Amino acid sequence: MSEELHDVQLRVNAGVQQIRVPARRLLSDALRHDCGLTGTHVGCEHGVCGACTVLVDGVPMRSCLMFAVSAEGAEITTVEGLTEADDSLSPVQQAFRECHGLQCGFCTPGFLTTISAGIETNPDPTEDDARDMIAGNLCRCTGYTNIVKSVLRAAEIQRERADGAESDDAAGRSRHDRQDVR
Ligand code: FES
Ligand code: FES
Repeated sequence: MSEELHDVQLRVNAGVQQIRVPARRLLSDALRHDCGLTGTHVGCEHGVCGACTVLVDGVPMRSCLMFAVSAEGAEITTVEGLTEADDSLSPVQQAFRECHGLQCGFCTPGFLTTISAGIETNPDPTEDDARDMIAGNLCRCTGYTNIVKSVLRAAEIQRERADGAESDDAAGRSRHDRQDVR
């Protein structure tokens, strides 16, 4: 007997993906095989390693523990969706590059998504906070030291960019004010 298929509309990385999948299709498999977003990696497939972590409405979730049908209506961000609007690296991506936060890279998408959400919640983490932030993700290569450094650097880059945007705004406002008084 052939399996019943369901039409599912996934909102991924600010776009919409229309897929037709069995009810048992895992979100991780749907992202990789049905949406072609192979940046999400699958390691243990039972919620332990964190490699498959994506953001669901901004919250890190193990995509191997969710069904694709249950993700309909949610805003999903995979590692492919982390880059800035102008395609430059996000603070976390930039920090991993600067601090050598990866070796083989298999675990990296899960760390990048997890930390992206982590520094939104805690923009100025201590080293202990950074270790807590990544406690649910496994890496077999790095020994975690450079990943912890990457968390701290990512938060710093994020703060620097926010300060830069604020001063650009202030400069824009003051230009505008000067024009107003002429
Ligand atoms: S593949 Fe999902 S937690 Fe390991
Ligand atoms: S860099 Fe290889 S598993 Fe983390």
